[in-house]
Amino acid sequence: MTSKTLIPIQLQINGHQHELEVEPRVTLLDALRDHLGLTGTKKGCDHGQCGACTVHIDGQRVLACLTLAAQAEGRVVTTIEGLAQANGTLHAVQAAFLEQDAFQCGYCTPGQIMSAVACIREGHAGSDDEIREYMAGNLCRCGAYPHIVAAVRQAATEVAS
Ligand code: FES
Ligand code: FES
Repeated sequence: MTSKTLIPIQLQINGHQHELEVEPRVTLLDALRDHLGLTGTKKGCDHGQCGACTVHIDGQRVLACLTLAAQAEGRVVTTIEGLAQANGTLHAVQAAFLEQDAFQCGYCTPGQIMSAVACIREGHAGSDDEIREYMAGNLCRCGAYPHIVAAVRQAATEVAS
């Protein structure tokens, strides 16, 4: 029986520093969910095809299932748990998803919201077509797309105003 090689890594997630020991092959998604209990980030395909695992690293959206935990060391990671303010006030995108009823089962929602925050920040939420194009990496098996687009449009307007 071979023993596992563990490496120490430090991750800054949602403003908190975490130290953990993981195998070098452990993804950021598994580190978040299995090692740190941050299960808001969802595992859909685990192959970079659904967007359910979207988080931000240094403000950019990334797929946590295709990112090694070790690659996130020394960088700023934000997950869905870190989006609302400390006093519980929701981010404009979270509030818009609620107002527009932009989910059904909710499984894709954390990834949709993290992607939408970045999409707006990137300046890619200027029209419904643009929103659809730049949110295309986030799949919704429930087909809530019209409401998702409406929520992103609402939040983009609010952020700009
Ligand atoms: S779980 Fe990462 S893209 Fe599907
Ligand atoms: S709300 Fe169910 S997968 Fe999107």
